[in-house]
Amino acid sequence: MSASMQTTVQAGRPLLEVNDLKKHFPIKAGFFGGTTGYVYAVDGVSFSIQKGETLSLVGESGCGKSTVGKALLRLFDITDGQVVLDGQRIDDLSLGKLRPMRRRVGVVFQDPFSSLNPRMRVRDLLAEPIRNFGLAKDNADLEARLAKLMDLVRLPRDAVDRWPHEFSGGQRQRICIARALAGEPELIICDEAVSALDVSVKAQIVNLLQDLQKELGLAMLFISHDLAVVEHMTHRVAVMYLGRIVEIAPKRSLFAAPKHPYTEALLSAVPVPEPGAQRERIILKGDVPSPINPPKGCRFHTRCPYVFDRCRVETPELRSTGGAEHLAACHLHDKPEAENPLARNVALLA
Ligand SMILES: Nc1ncnc2c1ncn2[C@@H]1O[C@H](COP(=O)(O)OP(=O)(O)O)[C@@H](O)[C@H]1O
Ligand SMILES: [Mg+2]
Repeated sequence: MSASMQTTVQAGRPLLEVNDLKKHFPIKAGFFGGTTGYVYAVDGVSFSIQKGETLSLVGESGCGKSTVGKALLRLFDITDGQVVLDGQRIDDLSLGKLRPMRRRVGVVFQDPFSSLNPRMRVRDLLAEPIRNFGLAKDNADLEARLAKLMDLVRLPRDAVDRWPHEFSGGQRQRICIARALAGEPELIICDEAVSALDVSVKAQIVNLLQDLQKELGLAMLFISHDLAVVEHMTHRVAVMYLGRIVEIAPKRSLFAAPKHPYTEALLSAVPVPEPGAQRERIILKGDVPSPINPPKGCRFHTRCPYVFDRCRVETPELRSTGGAEHLAACHLHDKPEAENPLARNVALLA
């Protein structure tokens, strides 16, 4: 599967580039009060996505995944950094200039129940973005586009005349996906798009997204707290912890040989199909610290099973660990191999 997926990824200028993105939400003391602090929701995140590539963004609830997605959609102004779509900065574009760029990025959210207006028929839900982006030449073209969207998400064409409440959760999510595709985007952001669905429905929607990606050559940012879901459908994975990416790598490399203690712990909780092959479960101590007052040094040091003095004072940079495409932010990789517990993960590759 991954071999054929690889061929759809084109090298060259990335479709999306995110450079040192920061989003700090001010905390106000009362309605008229001044700013008393910040939620450091996203605090220096960089990655890129090629045309036709899926990058998954994973990590526990509250680590800043949705904030990254919303920043890409310009749902708010960012605090710092750059978002570059197909060579053009979009983070500082005026709303007028942003319009044509908006069409190029579609989005699917978690809850297919609240994201569809119950008072609109499917026809109008899908026609709305087509009209907003001025895509349909005439009525016949609009009808053709509606039919094509229904085909793409494998729903019967005549279902356009039904209401959202007439559909199951999985079918509604198909409508949300059709809506996301209405503008003929090059990138879609799926924010926990399958998290609310039952297991069997989840698999169907994951397969649909994967098919669409190949059929349409879409790039995808697949946001999920669930590593097990991600494994089946992604090219690369970025792991976030408290507003930062701690590891980013091609899927195979990350799953077989995690280079950050946090990734290693997350993976230890993912069930593996063969009995007996389960790695020893790593239980992290404590809770995720508050993004209002993140730990100094490495943000993960308060929970890391391998913490040493340097981790408490110096923030590790995200850098290559072995493979050029496999980056991790961990001081352990400066230690001799014999003293680096993550070095043993290489052996699992064989
Ligand atoms: N509009 C907002 N105002 C203040 N804090 C926010 C806002 N949106 C998100 N946050 C905070 O930012 C952090 C990251 O949130 P989010 O990006 O939603 O995480 P995730 O999607 O990984 O669960 C959380 O601590 C959350 O409470
Ligand atoms: Mg979220």
